[in-house]
Amino acid sequence: MCKNPLEATEENLKKGKMLYLVKAKPLPCKHCHGLSGDGMGPMARGFDPPPRDFTCAKTIKGVPDGQLFWIIQNGSPGTGMLAFNGLNDEQIWQVILYIRQLAK
Ligand code: HEC
Repeated sequence: MCKNPLEATEENLKKGKMLYLVKAKPLPCKHCHGLSGDGMGPMARGFDPPPRDFTCAKTIKGVPDGQLFWIIQNGSPGTGMLAFNGLNDEQIWQVILYIRQLAK
């Protein structure tokens, strides 16, 4: 599974946004990646490497969907990035759609 099977519809983006801002467990993404996705969330400062800046198109464009999926599901060992293994596949793809449209 390396391409996002979902379309960036309003509904999928809205669900992705809810996960990012509120619903994702153990912690909504915004606490680390920031409200706007700039990697400056209130908890970001404690981490080395720091959370990724999703608003930087250069950083995120080159990362394939499948890799984003894997990292969100499994976390990134040795970094602050947690495993979100409680999310189902559809939810992970929705949050990926949301992250991608933060990039400018
Ligand atoms: C506790 C803080 C924290 C939370 C909460 C968090 N992240 Fe992260 N995330 C990080 C850190 C730190 C990194 C940097 C790891 C690295 O550079 O390898 C990261 C990296 C990533 C990456 C890798 C980007 C890349 O280019 O390799 C993705 C994708 C990601 N996070 C998505 C998410 C999503 C989606 C959520 C919410 C469901 C989330 N993160 C929640 C701290 C967090």
